[in-house]
Amino acid sequence: MTESASGSGLVVGGLCKTYRNGVRALDGVDLRVLPGMYGLLGPNGAGKSTLMRTLATLQSPDSGTISLDGVDVLADPDYQRARLGYLPQQIGSYPGVTARGLLDRFVWLKGHTDRGFRRREVERLLDRVNLADAAEQTVSTYSGGMLRRFGIALALIGSPRLLIVDEPTAGLDPVERNRFHHVLSDVAVDAIVLLSTHIVEDIENLCARLAIIDKGRIVAEGTTADLIASCRGRLWEKVVPRGEELPEALHIGARPTGTRVVVESATRPGDDFEPHDPTLEDVYYLALAATGSKEAA
Ligand SMILES: Nc1ncnc2c1ncn2[C@@H]1O[C@H](COP(=O)(O)OP(=O)(O)OP(=O)(O)O)[C@@H](O)[C@H]1O
Ligand SMILES: [Mg+2]
Repeated sequence: MTESASGSGLVVGGLCKTYRNGVRALDGVDLRVLPGMYGLLGPNGAGKSTLMRTLATLQSPDSGTISLDGVDVLADPDYQRARLGYLPQQIGSYPGVTARGLLDRFVWLKGHTDRGFRRREVERLLDRVNLADAAEQTVSTYSGGMLRRFGIALALIGSPRLLIVDEPTAGLDPVERNRFHHVLSDVAVDAIVLLSTHIVEDIENLCARLAIIDKGRIVAEGTTADLIASCRGRLWEKVVPRGEELPEALHIGARPTGTRVVVESATRPGDDFEPHDPTLEDVYYLALAATGSKEAA
């Protein structure tokens, strides 16, 4: 159980998982996640939730290794569980209970019988997720955004070293999404936060580092800035007037006068093409195109 600098953070090696129906959901995943906010980006069915449930020790991989701060998590799952906060893709509903009451119950479930401690912990958590003003409201009447923030409060009980959040912003309006992002980036000051999403902007705004996962494999990994820089000079764009045939494109988008196409090419593909300034969205499409998942784009 020694913690070494080289083993610090969450380290995943060669993780594989094939479900009984034959779907290979994880196909040799390697990752190293240090404190801060780390993004896991991938299309539907890529394996994000499978990876997160496995890291949360809710299911076992077929093979591979997971360690947290140098400790073998598969051999000692309780080490991980004691340091983990996990917000699953769906959280349940609890009719008739106030947020304050429900939080108190969950803090108690973590083994805290001292009332004074529980009261302080509940207030700290409500404050952290900006729900202090709605603490006496029943959780079943919360909006989608409030419910997500409440889920984070539950996941933050006991100040976890590792926080895993699975597609937390789906269905949130821009104000709620922003609020949610603030809460997460506060937590990431001193914890490892692993966030999965298929929404590129979530990661662009929030995560210094990310991995793109597709068909159970990591197809790109690095800092947002490096990944974007690696696309520079390779992409070209033009607007094709409405009614004209579109060239084969990395991705297309509607514009007032026609369709903006972005193509990959080592040299300018035609006089009417301009250099395209890459974004994380381009990184995503390029990574998926390389694995033949372009239809997912
Ligand atoms: N319990 C299960 N039994 C069989 N197959 C499963 C199971 N859970 C997931 N899968 C399959 O494994 C693959 C990966 O699924 P997973 O839920 O991990 O993807 P995801 O990236 O979270 O997708 P989404 O963005 O839609 O949530 C999919 O093909 C899915 O159908
Ligand atoms: Mg999922």
